[in-house]
Amino acid sequence: MRVAHDGSSTAWTALGEDELFARLEEYRSGDLDTKGGRTWAYVYDPGRPDIDRVAKRALVEFYDENALDPTVFPSLLRIENEVVGLAREHLRGDERVVGNFTTGGTESIMMAVKAARDRARELRPDLDRPTMVLPVTAHAAFHKAAHYFDVEAVSVPVDTSTWKADVPLMADACDDRTILLVGSAVSYAHGVVDPIPELGQLALERELLLHVDGCIGGFVLPYFRRLGREVTDFDFSVPGVTSISMDFHKYAYCPKSASVVLYRDPELRRHQLYAKAAWTGYTVINTTFQSTKSGGALAATWAALNYVGDRGYLEIAERTLAAVDEIIAGLADSPDLDVMGRPESNLIALTSDTVNVFDVVDEMRTHRWYVQPQLGFAGSRENIHLSVGGASLELVPELLADLVAACDAARHRPTPPADDEIVALLHSLDPATLGPEEFDLLLAGAGIGSDGGAPEVPDRTAGINAILNVCPPELAERVLVEFFNRIYVPE
Ligand SMILES: Cc1ncc(COP(=O)(O)O)c(C=O)c1O
Repeated sequence: MRVAHDGSSTAWTALGEDELFARLEEYRSGDLDTKGGRTWAYVYDPGRPDIDRVAKRALVEFYDENALDPTVFPSLLRIENEVVGLAREHLRGDERVVGNFTTGGTESIMMAVKAARDRARELRPDLDRPTMVLPVTAHAAFHKAAHYFDVEAVSVPVDTSTWKADVPLMADACDDRTILLVGSAVSYAHGVVDPIPELGQLALERELLLHVDGCIGGFVLPYFRRLGREVTDFDFSVPGVTSISMDFHKYAYCPKSASVVLYRDPELRRHQLYAKAAWTGYTVINTTFQSTKSGGALAATWAALNYVGDRGYLEIAERTLAAVDEIIAGLADSPDLDVMGRPESNLIALTSDTVNVFDVVDEMRTHRWYVQPQLGFAGSRENIHLSVGGASLELVPELLADLVAACDAARHRPTPPADDEIVALLHSLDPATLGPEEFDLLLAGAGIGSDGGAPEVPDRTAGINAILNVCPPELAERVLVEFFNRIYVPE
């Protein structure tokens, strides 16, 4: 029921099925392509439409089932246990390793942090505010978890030549409030594996938990190892690793939302679970954040994993590595773009001394590519992210040619970097004291103007990124919150 401006209520008009889908199609005309290999972040295309077809069929068939209560939807319990069993084997866990299916990397990570916190609350009831120690390259989801669960995140610089966690520095950052260490396999920004065996050693020495974020690398790294690449051990074969997150909706090419969080043993996983009997309704026992949840993504994951099979994933991984090698070789003599560090997986970061990478990103859009801008932080310069996948290989020559053209165009049409005056101004602002008008001005200054309605992001985003790149992170975070607060307005 809609409420009209005069306060009366109005019913909305039903649309015919054809019109309705035509409208939805029209709405998404401005979206990035999810298939075809031209989108190098956010979506994962194996280059095999048959996987999509099979997974989506399972998604629809199980869409109505409710994983809220596995005792009345036992198929979902069985499917989840099989999916988790497969993940456990993939990550070399023994029979004590347990876990749960979640909606994504963020939820898996949040569950692991919650389990660590609740375990600490039980074992050390006097501990006031626990900390977790993590490299600056760890995914933002850990900070979100820290924020939600009132755990202090202690960020530690990384080695800026390898972009890997600096274990002695992490050891120095631990104190008697520390409950959890974090490492990535691989980190999103630079695609490298942290020294997990050394972190495991530290965890054992200090009696800490160690979570390995394998959200983006966990599924594919074992295949890269089998294909002859050197891959640092990162899974349950490493003493000291107590939990791992691994996404299926990334390089297992399952439909979103699909991930798993695994624990070394049920005693640790117990702290992830939530039960409530003290209310007037049905008894609640949840494995994850959600209570009611569709069985669709779970069934789709089971279907994709079993349809592709180990051999199929190995073949996709082989094509993926071939694409990575071709990109790195193709850029070796580039006068403009440099690969950051030595990528150990299929994620590549490109930086430049000669052109503004944010302009290159915009130019690539005009060639119908999406490559992702990453801001500078903690010694890691602003760069261009490429997530390479199964659909990438055939497109590499075109991508490389268009990168050259984009760099040339960026040279001729450069976005001026924020000048010293603007940088000084941005650093003088205290986000806590700014009001709505100041944020309107800041958003307009960043190129996200509005004519009274919701602000609109322009096609070219280099100007916005150039400003965000020099903002203190706290200010950038507030500006982003204000921006979302203005664009999510009911229509
Ligand atoms: C290393 C890593 N961890 C966690 C996440 C968060 O995953 P999600 O977006 O599924 O919540 C990502 C996402 O790219 C990631 O790359």
